[in-house]
Amino acid sequence: MRRSIVIGCGGYVPERVVTNEELSRTVDTSDEWIVARTGIRERRIAADNELTSDLGTRAADAALRDAGIDAGDIDLIVVATSTPDDTFPATATKIQANLGISGPPAFDIQAVCTGFIYALTTADSLLRAGQGNRALVIGAETFSRIIDWNDRRTCVLFADGAGALVLEAAEQPGDTATDRGILKNCLHADGRYRDLLYVDGGPSSTQTTGHLRMDGRGVFRHAVVNLAKVVQEVMDGTGLAPEDIDWLVPHQANKRIIDGTAKKLGLSTDKVVLTVDHHGNTSAASVPLALAEAAGDGRINRGDLLLLEAMGGGFTWGASLLRW
Ligand code: UT7
Repeated sequence: MRRSIVIGCGGYVPERVVTNEELSRTVDTSDEWIVARTGIRERRIAADNELTSDLGTRAADAALRDAGIDAGDIDLIVVATSTPDDTFPATATKIQANLGISGPPAFDIQAVCTGFIYALTTADSLLRAGQGNRALVIGAETFSRIIDWNDRRTCVLFADGAGALVLEAAEQPGDTATDRGILKNCLHADGRYRDLLYVDGGPSSTQTTGHLRMDGRGVFRHAVVNLAKVVQEVMDGTGLAPEDIDWLVPHQANKRIIDGTAKKLGLSTDKVVLTVDHHGNTSAASVPLALAEAAGDGRINRGDLLLLEAMGGGFTWGASLLRW
């Protein structure tokens, strides 16, 4: 069976660290409130001249180095982002040009915080269908550009960063108990909940970029339910059970949501990759950034079973099960 195997992983966060204490000087908040409600202690914010494509290019470079291949070996680039450099062309094509290559298809996926799971599923499907052998899958965001910095309900949560995986198609025996690579993906969306998390601008509606608006409590309630369901769904029919999981790599929106999902799976906290404390919520970049950190420091190793999950605006939500 042809499967998409991760052969490289990399991440990049901007240099500038913004602490909770720094935010408490501009909006009515406190380190105590932010840590207790979200688990976030600090986040990274891009420099004025740093674009989403710049962050994505740095992450892609790191992933290519990790894989030990050249950009010229890539057959497909998929970028998950809700904060593209421009309305068009796709940020993926800018990253492609930055990497010094031309020819292979490059496009963006927009599924907000679930974007990386959607991008991974898309790249996996194309590789398995024979559309090339190697793909770069990138999550890259500059949410600082769409944040209302006067809204304490959202400005303490979101941040900037990028992460990338290199996938390579390879024949595997077809046994989920031992195969390497992506074993199963599940994607969902429900557009009825648009008003709980959206950006109040866009090229067609207002001809402006707009700012992020969120009913945090409403999103929280749906996130807990949807994520508990989708992590079960992605294991159904695979013959694998929660006790087989080596690492839960969740979207990093809120430590309380992550703890809830781990608890539902019966996983102890030492099997959860947590970066929300120092990355904040980087939307589509959060899962690949967490992967890059945990693979880079030796926690995630070849042969480990990983469960990735995310939920975000749309609503969209999804999960992927893969063996590293
Ligand atoms: O990544 C995409 C998916 N997004 C998510 O998954 C986010 C889901 N939601 C959440 O993570 C949480 O709902 C939040 C962290 C956004 C908020 O936490 P919460 O425990 O749900 O708080 P809340 O919205 O119910 O607000 C509680 C109180 C309110 O005051 P009152 O009405 O009780 O007087 C807020 O005005 O906390 C107030 N508040 C703040 N206080 C200090 C809201 N933001 C802040 C703040 N600092 N930054």
